[in-house]
Amino acid sequence: MRWLIPAAGLALVGCNVPSEFLQRMEAQAKYEYYETSEFWADGKAMRTPPAGTVPRERAVGNPGLTTGRVNGALVTSIPLELNRQVLEDGQKHYNIVCAQCHGRLGDGNSVVAENMALRLPPSLLQLSDKPDGHFYAAVTEGYGVMPSFAGELNIQERWAVVAYVRALQRARNSQAGGQQPVPQENR
Ligand code: HEC
Repeated sequence: MRWLIPAAGLALVGCNVPSEFLQRMEAQAKYEYYETSEFWADGKAMRTPPAGTVPRERAVGNPGLTTGRVNGALVTSIPLELNRQVLEDGQKHYNIVCAQCHGRLGDGNSVVAENMALRLPPSLLQLSDKPDGHFYAAVTEGYGVMPSFAGELNIQERWAVVAYVRALQRARNSQAGGQQPVPQENR
């Protein structure tokens, strides 16, 4: 098996690789699902996972953290310990992934928004009454015409982005001199 990897590399850089070579790779001896095997004592090609193996989702076992919902209800607080590092992480990822549509301030002013023909990216600042899970679920599952960003951001990064969106909301909705109290739900 080991010689295949360098050989495949050569196949990619070489120009005159005979097509039978790649054909042979495709047609190489291998087991398909549920095939029989004379190699193993139980006669099956597929192996039984070691005793005690559990699905990853069960090991994670924290739907509030991974999905933003518990029993179908959106979680109302970010299930991470919040500190400066998390907020800075959230800021970084927000600016990379979200800002081109929702604007660096979260107010929906962006070049993409100016040129978008479909539904415009909304301001995120007016959504301070929505629970934290709403933002996480929107990023994880997608929301209307907005795609999911679960491929771009891992679980921790998504929650960090939520924390940063909360910071943007809080910054925008408060006023210098403390004339107007920060709305309760803005934390
Ligand atoms: C390609 C542009 C684009 C990017 C990038 C993008 N969004 Fe969106 N977002 C939208 C649009 C457009 C909508 C409205 C979708 C609709 O209503 O059908 C939306 C909706 C949302 C909503 C739901 C708003 C509501 O009314 O409740 C949230 C929350 C949100 N986005 C957060 C984010 C976050 C956080 C990121 C970065 C991880 C992000 N978006 C990245 C375009 C974008």
